[in-house]
Amino acid sequence: MKVSIIGSGYVGTTLAACLADLGHTVTAIDVDESVVDRINAGEAPIHEPGLADLVAEHAGNRLRATTDYAAVRDTDVTFIALPTPSRKDGSIDTSLVEMGTESLGEALREKDGEHLVVVKSTVVPGTTAERVAPVLVEASGKQLGEGIDVAMNPEFLREGHAVSDFLDPDKIVFGAEREAAFATLRELYRPLTETTDTHVVETGLNEAEIIKYANNAFLAAKISLMNELGNICKEYGIDAYEVADAIGLDDRIGSQFLNSGVGWGGSCFPKDVAALIAAADEVGYDAQLLKAAVAVNDRQPERLLSLLDDHGDVAGQRVAVLGLSFKPGTDDIRESRAIPVIQGLLDRGADVVGYDPVAADRMRERFPDITYADSAAEALRDAHGAVVVTDWDEFAALDEEFDTMARPVVVDGRHVVGRREGLTYEGLTW
Ligand code: UDX
Repeated sequence: MKVSIIGSGYVGTTLAACLADLGHTVTAIDVDESVVDRINAGEAPIHEPGLADLVAEHAGNRLRATTDYAAVRDTDVTFIALPTPSRKDGSIDTSLVEMGTESLGEALREKDGEHLVVVKSTVVPGTTAERVAPVLVEASGKQLGEGIDVAMNPEFLREGHAVSDFLDPDKIVFGAEREAAFATLRELYRPLTETTDTHVVETGLNEAEIIKYANNAFLAAKISLMNELGNICKEYGIDAYEVADAIGLDDRIGSQFLNSGVGWGGSCFPKDVAALIAAADEVGYDAQLLKAAVAVNDRQPERLLSLLDDHGDVAGQRVAVLGLSFKPGTDDIRESRAIPVIQGLLDRGADVVGYDPVAADRMRERFPDITYADSAAEALRDAHGAVVVTDWDEFAALDEEFDTMARPVVVDGRHVVGRREGLTYEGLTW
């Protein structure tokens, strides 16, 4: 099939490269010329394992990029993969999606034949039907089901696994109102559904929209619940990881996302939970459990630091922060728990030394005045304490490096270092 994708960010580029890999002819549309040039030169505009190879393989062949919306006329389906940034109150701003839809609709005015517009961006229930569809109808001069239609197809990719998650998904969700739209989506994903045992869920537009939020809210709340249980375990001197291993054996609970610690960050969980709380509020529902999940998450960095406080004042002392990214395998620091941890240490007057294998430059923009070490060993040297914020594998291999600390106290927020002789070790929930 011929597919166009508006927005070449994280989701859009992954989608473009993967659909090209499935055999479709894909046109990526973006207002940023440098992004367009990079894709056409066979380079991935973002870093994601496996993506550069796919872009290099398909650019100039089944994958091309342009800044010109007119390109949509040569395609059968257009995905909208534009950002939906958070407003101050946590609700999402859909103005970029609406503006993109307007340009798309105008370009489709001169197109003959059927065209399906698929919302890929994460949007709250009602957005596709009540915001995107009317803008599209108005701009294109066509009626829904008569030359044009809308669908919703949410994305569940994890950073660092986007390509493999796309090519081997647990589920694919199609939201639409008419059979023709479902038929187009089935055809588009057929190369995947025929070769993997993925589940396809066909549902309504609002349902598809909320499934994405429910998915992320559930996972974030699952972690917060485990963090709460872990905090209770800690007070009793019980290892919450042993408890998690046991409860995870119950199929109804499942063993994944039970790692308690310093909490969740990243570009999705905090934003999506906040957006769902705000959306619920708008329709008159007070989402208390989700608010509590956020509150527990917000509390974990301070609990980590209070464990360090228990071993003495850190004012004027060098303290190492091991790990700055929101999770291992990425340099993304958005909503990283390292941010409140560093802030809390600065508030205590500590001399903070951060280390991360890839994310230091990003964190330097946020905290220009702390020290950044080139290795964990350098960060630990002469430190009066260390906190572990990201579960990078290399931290598990640290050993003699702890001997160089002025005061060998480690508070581990990710269950990665482990107890060893000569080290005063505190686990956040174990
Ligand atoms: C998440 C969802 O997994 C993905 O489906 C969605 O599309 C986007 O949001 P991502 O943000 O890339 O993906 O990271 P993920 O691996 O899910 O981790 C999110 C956060 O939760 C990280 O900060 C991680 O450290 C934390 N986490 C995860 C825990 O604290 N404990 C766990 O057991 C699992």
